[in-house]
Amino acid sequence: MNHLQALRQALPLGQQLAQAASAALGGGSAAALLGLARQFSSSAATANPLGPPAFVFDIDGVLIRGRHTLPQAKRALARLYTPDGSRPRYPVAFLTNGGGVTERVKAHQLSEWLGVHVDESQVVLSHTPFRQLAAKFAHEPVLVAGRGQVREVARHYGFRHVVTTHQLTRAMPAAVPFHEDQGLFPGQDLPVYTRELKYGSAQHPIRAIMVFTDPSDWYRDLQLMTDVILSRGMPGCWPPPAGAPPVEVFFSNPDMLWANEFTAPRFGQGAFSTCLEALHFKLTGEPLPHAHHFGKPHAAPYLLIERLLLQQAQQLGIDVPEPAEEAALAAAEAGRVVSSSSSSGSDEAGSSGGGSGSSSSSARSGSAHRVHTPLPFSSIYAVGDNPAADVRGANAAGAPWVSVLVTKTGVATENSPADPAQVVVDDVEAAVEAGLHRARNAKWHSMR
Ligand code: G3P
Ligand code: MG
Repeated sequence: MNHLQALRQALPLGQQLAQAASAALGGGSAAALLGLARQFSSSAATANPLGPPAFVFDIDGVLIRGRHTLPQAKRALARLYTPDGSRPRYPVAFLTNGGGVTERVKAHQLSEWLGVHVDESQVVLSHTPFRQLAAKFAHEPVLVAGRGQVREVARHYGFRHVVTTHQLTRAMPAAVPFHEDQGLFPGQDLPVYTRELKYGSAQHPIRAIMVFTDPSDWYRDLQLMTDVILSRGMPGCWPPPAGAPPVEVFFSNPDMLWANEFTAPRFGQGAFSTCLEALHFKLTGEPLPHAHHFGKPHAAPYLLIERLLLQQAQQLGIDVPEPAEEAALAAAEAGRVVSSSSSSGSDEAGSSGGGSGSSSSSARSGSAHRVHTPLPFSSIYAVGDNPAADVRGANAAGAPWVSVLVTKTGVATENSPADPAQVVVDDVEAAVEAGLHRARNAKWHSMR
C-alpha cells in the first residue's frame, strides 16, 4: 500500500491534508513520497473493472490557453454529458493549480466556457486545501498574496483576519521603495507607516503567509514576505522579540511553468517560491523554515477529488461499496491523533521528513483505520499538460488513477522520461476517446 493509500485509510480528511502538507515540504520528500508510491501503487489497486470510468481535467493547457477556450474541450465534455449538457453521464471533475476565485465562481466560468453545467462540487482549485487551514488560523492574522480575489476567497474559507500585500504596501510605503504606489507621495520622503498596522504589529503579529495564486508583483511580494518571515510576523519590528513564534508559509501551486497564449510556457508560482526560498537562504544561510507546498503533484488535491468523485458516483446511482469500517477504536484514536497534530502543526510542518514521520507513524502505529471507501471506478483518467504536476500526481496516487498527457495544447510536447504518462495523446478530445475506449474494452474483457 503506498503512502497516499495509507493516508486514505488511516486518517480523516483534515488530518490527511495536514499530513499531505507536511509530506509536501520541499522537493526531496515529495520525490521520496512519489517514488514510494510508484513502487507500491500496483499492489493495492482499488480499480473495479466493471465500474464506470471517471474523468479529471486540468484546466490551463488542456481546456483553455490563457483566455481562449480550446474547441476540442467543448467537444470532449459534450461526450461525457447528457445531450442538453445539464448533467454528466460519468463522474467528471476539474483539478487545477490555478485559482483566484471561489470554487463556485470557477464552476460558473467553466460552464460558460465549455457549454455544459459544472457544479462547484466538481471543482478543486490550487487553494481549495487551504480551507482546512482555517481550523488553525481562522482567528490569527494571515498575509495573503496572488492575483484575483484572494482576500475574498480567504474570507470565504473562514479566515477572519486577512491582510494583503497590497494593503501592507499602502500601510508601509517605505518598505517597498520602488513600488509604483509610491507615486502617491511625489516629492516627499516615503512615510514608514501611513497608519497603525492592524495586522503585523507586535500586538497582532502575522502568523501565516498564504500564497493563493501566482503573484503578479514579485518585487513587492518577495520583499514584504521576507520582511514578515524574518520579523516573525511583525514587519518593521527589527529585531523581532525573542521567542516570537515563526511564521508558517503556505504555497498553493508548485508549477515552475504553465501554458497561456504565448508560444512558450510562462513562469508560475513555483518559480516565485523558488525565488523566495533562495532569497531566504542567501540572507540567513538557512532554508526557508515552516514552508508547506500544496497543489498537484502533492497528495492533498487528489484526496479531495476522490471524495468529490465518490459523491458524484452516488448521485449518478453508481454502486459505491460500503465504507470499510475497520476498527471501532479508530474514531477515539483518530480524535487523539487529530488534537496532537493540530496543536503542533508547525512542528509537523516545520521539520521536513521528521514532522511528517512523527504524525504518520502515530497514525499507522497508534490508530488503526477510520473509514475507507474503495473507489468504484475502472479508471480515473487524469488529463493534464504538465508532467511534473499532472502526470507525477496521478502516477503517485496509484490505481485506479491513470495519467493522460496531452502534447499539442499545453506545456509538454512529448512524454517525459522523469514522469512518464500511461497514456499520451494530442489533446483533451483524444484523451476522452481513449478513456471511453479503454473502459469499453476493460468491461468487455471482464465479461469474457
Ligand atoms: O497558475 C496556474 C497554472 O500554474 C496551471 O494551472 O490548470 O494547468 O493546473 P493548471
Ligand atoms: Mg495545465
